[in-house]
Amino acid sequence: MDSEPDRKGPVLFYTKAVIDHFMNPRNTGELAEQDTDGFGMAGDPECGDQLKLWIKVHGGRIEKISFKSFGCPGAIATSSMLTALATGKTTEEARSITDDDVIEALGGIPENKKHCSLLGVRALQSAINDREARIREG
Ligand code: FES
Repeated sequence: MDSEPDRKGPVLFYTKAVIDHFMNPRNTGELAEQDTDGFGMAGDPECGDQLKLWIKVHGGRIEKISFKSFGCPGAIATSSMLTALATGKTTEEARSITDDDVIEALGGIPENKKHCSLLGVRALQSAINDREARIREG
């Protein structure tokens, strides 16, 4: 006898922008070593997801940015949007991008996926710190 599928689980409603950035993530992959001015990583110990992010800075602005995600749809969509927001910004402007900025640019994200947007924000801040350390070290 056929049984009804279980529809009792939590249902996540994603905006069109979230689905678009998940299905067609922007700025994915690694930057070549000669193009990399900063590299950052962030992980979420709760879910085990991870993000790596590379930046190239020219004239004080983020000229290229790219990421690799080992994470959920929320992590991929928010990281993709983060890279779109950061492109062309000065490193100081990029450093001040918050997880709320990313979520707002996506038109919202389900409550239990909000933490995913922190991965990209933290990885970008870590990449900017890495770039500054490279400059200090010459
Ligand atoms: Fe881990 Fe989304 S559930 S980053």
